[in-house]
Amino acid sequence: MKIGFIGAGEMGSAIIRGLLKSGWKKEDIVASVHTQASAQRLTNTLGIKVCTDNKQIAAEADRLFVAVKPAQMPSVLQEIAATGISPKPLVSMALGWRVEKIQSFLPDWPVIRIMPNTPLALGEGVTLLHFAVQTPLAVREEMKNLFEKMGKTFEIPLQVFDAATALSGSGPAFVYAFIDALAQAGVRQGIDERQAVPLAVQTVIGAAKMVEREGVPPAVLAQKVATPGGCTAAGMDELKKSDFTEVIAHIIAATTRKAEQVGK
Ligand SMILES: NC(=O)c1ccc[n+]([C@@H]2O[C@H](COP(=O)([O-])OP(=O)(O)OC[C@H]3O[C@@H](n4cnc5c(N)ncnc54)[C@H](OP(=O)(O)O)[C@@H]3O)[C@@H](O)[C@H]2O)c1
Repeated sequence: MKIGFIGAGEMGSAIIRGLLKSGWKKEDIVASVHTQASAQRLTNTLGIKVCTDNKQIAAEADRLFVAVKPAQMPSVLQEIAATGISPKPLVSMALGWRVEKIQSFLPDWPVIRIMPNTPLALGEGVTLLHFAVQTPLAVREEMKNLFEKMGKTFEIPLQVFDAATALSGSGPAFVYAFIDALAQAGVRQGIDERQAVPLAVQTVIGAAKMVEREGVPPAVLAQKVATPGGCTAAGMDELKKSDFTEVIAHIIAATTRKAEQVGK
């Protein structure tokens, strides 16, 4: 089976890397991009066939992944429709693009709407999934299996797809900002910058793995670390007095609103 990508920038490349890492062969992945320069660069870095002919990729692929920016979606979907090829599973990751909107260009195509995140490239991604009614059960299972090899998948109801997009699709950016803030706070206390970032990174990795392994609410684990009267408790007291939870809620709300706007 051949997977074709139309668009292979940040996200498309991350998925291609994730596929290669999870055992897909280079010859079974093909892509088209807008410019010859990108095609050449991606051929060199990913080692797959990359061209600038969307129609050729649409025809050649058994599963078609569209990974262009939302603004490019109408022209790319029109181009696919103009080929007259028979419907095939089409995976879209375009922010705000519902399956019905894609099917207005490609009626009856089994469209799979996903929202991935870039850690997919390392096998640690999150992929949100929403299937068009036409998607056969076998294709649903196939897609879940494909993305589970690159992390975890979540089938998400349409009404909260934008909110989930804010949390996991955009989430890595907020976690990077938190890691940066943690490291900078350490630097302000005199820690060398070269040590502060790795310290913060490993702390976040370890804490996330603890939450996953222990299976209890993160707040319970926070309590366990904070011995009454101890130094962590002193920090937690400051955290509780701050707007930390509210700030995070505002960030997710603003991101969700933007995702909703793009989809209108
Ligand atoms: N970045 C993320 O973390 C992230 C997370 C979740 C979802 N997404 C979604 O992923 C999609 C892609 O975003 P991105 O961040 O990967 O964008 P990007 O880095 O700007 O990449 C866009 C890709 O599309 C290609 N392209 C542009 N116009 C094209 C056309 N007419 N035909 C064929 N290829 C074309 C570009 O080729 P050239 O390089 O030649 O211009 C490039 O390879 C978006 O829908 C976005 O909502 C992104």
